[in-house]
Amino acid sequence: MTILFNEQSKEFHLQGSNTSYIFKILENNHLGHIYYGKKLTHRDSFERMYHVRHQPNTNYEFEGDNKFSLDLIKQEYPAFGTTDFREPAYQLLQENGSTTTHFEYKEHTIYKGKKKLENLPATYVEAETEATTLEVSLYDRVIDAELLLTYTVFEKFDAITRSTKFVNHGNQNLNLFRVMSASVDFFDSDFEMIQLSGSWARERHIENRKLVPGIQRISSARGTSSAQQNPFIALKRPSTNEHQGEVYGVSLVYSGNFSAQVEVDHYDVSRLMIGINPFNFNWLLEAGESFQAPEVVMVYSDQGLNGMSQTFHELYRTRLARGLWRDKERPVLINNWEATYFDFDEQKIVNIAKESKQLGVELFVLDDGWFGKRNDDTTSLGDWFVDESKLPNGITGLANKVKDLGLEFGLWFEPEMVSKVSELYKTHPDWVIHRPERKISHGRNQYVLDFSRQDVVDYIYGLMAEILHEAPISYVKWDMNRYMSEIGSAKLPANRQREVAHRYILGVYQLYERLTTEFPEVLFESCASGGCRFDPGMLYYAPQGWTSDDTDAVERLKIQYGTSMVYPISSMGAHVSAVPNHQVERITSLATRANVAYFGAFGYELDVSEMDEQEKHQVKQQIQFYKENRGLIQQGTFHRLESPFTHEANTTSWIVVSQDKTEAVAGYYQLLALPNAGFQRVVFKGLEPNYAYSIDGISETFYGDELMHAGLQLDKYAGESLTGDFSSAIFKLTKI
Ligand code: DGJ
Repeated sequence: MTILFNEQSKEFHLQGSNTSYIFKILENNHLGHIYYGKKLTHRDSFERMYHVRHQPNTNYEFEGDNKFSLDLIKQEYPAFGTTDFREPAYQLLQENGSTTTHFEYKEHTIYKGKKKLENLPATYVEAETEATTLEVSLYDRVIDAELLLTYTVFEKFDAITRSTKFVNHGNQNLNLFRVMSASVDFFDSDFEMIQLSGSWARERHIENRKLVPGIQRISSARGTSSAQQNPFIALKRPSTNEHQGEVYGVSLVYSGNFSAQVEVDHYDVSRLMIGINPFNFNWLLEAGESFQAPEVVMVYSDQGLNGMSQTFHELYRTRLARGLWRDKERPVLINNWEATYFDFDEQKIVNIAKESKQLGVELFVLDDGWFGKRNDDTTSLGDWFVDESKLPNGITGLANKVKDLGLEFGLWFEPEMVSKVSELYKTHPDWVIHRPERKISHGRNQYVLDFSRQDVVDYIYGLMAEILHEAPISYVKWDMNRYMSEIGSAKLPANRQREVAHRYILGVYQLYERLTTEFPEVLFESCASGGCRFDPGMLYYAPQGWTSDDTDAVERLKIQYGTSMVYPISSMGAHVSAVPNHQVERITSLATRANVAYFGAFGYELDVSEMDEQEKHQVKQQIQFYKENRGLIQQGTFHRLESPFTHEANTTSWIVVSQDKTEAVAGYYQLLALPNAGFQRVVFKGLEPNYAYSIDGISETFYGDELMHAGLQLDKYAGESLTGDFSSAIFKLTKI
């Protein structure tokens, strides 16, 4: 795997294990895109793939030439203002009012390894041999500005990462009001676009649409990546399914406002781009300043959607997530939120902890309500001082009691927020995102702290660090429960107000970086009203995230299935909660709730002290099962088998197979019981065809090939589990 440059043809050929990505320096010194897809045998020139030609009704770049038009050529990082009329990758406003630019190839370097991105999360390497990087520098001599495009090809993954940086070397002010992280022009438009859309409590549902001429786009302007859209899209061929066919996935390593779009032009070329949402964005580049855009990860697969997802999973699990917890088996936790909400005291917490310990739980997490005067959600965010009326011995006292029971202790924070009713807001009303001449809208009775300000980030860091230093805390749940409105900062001048949303996210990243560096042993879990900010940016700091506030087993099938399109199952917090479920009032069995939650970072979120003996016994067994299999579940290869999104789907199934294929755990779920049902079977994937496997609870053995082609007959082998509505079965396979 390597990156080749041919001096004669001026072409770059980036080669992954199964991918080629080819572009060239054009006659006008812009970069032209040639090809992205299945790996091609290298040759000196691929020029014939992009040949220039005459077309009527076109503008041309050079006097006397009626062939060379950017409208007819696929481009690498397109500009607007000359002969291409499609949406560009960037726009720079100059002091004379012009937005026309002309960035010409200047030089490039190719080196082993991958550099860190300044102040932004990004994939990384642990040894230089793991990746090769290409940096191409382009220069606009009229405005004395540089554009740096960086590409990294990983040895082990069919992934190419890209990022973009602008540098103002001149002495005029430039305004960057559009800066995509990557743009790719494809030969044709015979694709379907996949996106992960939803809302609070139904995050990341898979949506699929056929490309049509014009722009199709998803975005967020909420100040976070959001539950409404996720910073990811994929283009798949119409015949591609989970198991076969071509697909291209792009995922932005960013947690703020983003935009992802595909523009299909009049010659059926599809231009895909992704980056910071240009809507309401502007960045002032003063003389000498630079702007670094977030990283994009591009994955190509000819092994269907599962092939694409497995590359994202492996790359994100091992080379985006960081820290001690990256490779460590995650603790089985219990969280008191749905058990007590704000109504708890030390005794109640200790009781739940004591009971949980008996059942095998390893970590107790104290959620919202432990600080200030927070007995409901109207007050105290920002006042990170323990409420002694609930916890007379402080966090340290409680944490020690929990530790003495033999459990680890975790604590909830919502660092980016302040309640209107709080000491912090009283003292610093200008520390919130606001416009002084406008009213401030509230969300959950709270305001967003202005993390674009260093003093605000420093203050919150100080409070959190003090608590983490003092108490034996081994886990932090970092919540964030409202979107941004009336966006403005008291600290920034008028011409930088449209930088606030991006500066805010940089402030969040900075706080995460400082805390994870200072407390490397602490496991961080990100959260935003459940999964309203579940994105690759967060995964860089927190190896797991709270997938959704919706803990209903049936709803979770769609949420976890959709989330797995990009994110590894080790990153998905998944808890068993009480019934009737608090979000949808549905009643499902304890078995089905666990059978869904096993495929994630497993835990409980209910009052175990209220369970009867039989339930406790069942929970004990569930925890034991998860502990025995969590290495495999958290680090194995995940295959989606049957989609809950298929029209009228009544069944969902998936399997996770160990790296060496000697073990696997599969989950099968049936929504409604079927009267007089026909034959049912589940067809597994990812096993070794000639290994013989035993399946727990079944006396016969099966070869991998039979299980992957004929499947397992469910009516024969799982009939008892699959009775009634919302039933499910788990199959543990072991090589004999
Ligand atoms: C929203 C989170 O998603 C919940 O899990 C819980 O922590 C609440 N916030 C607490 O306010």
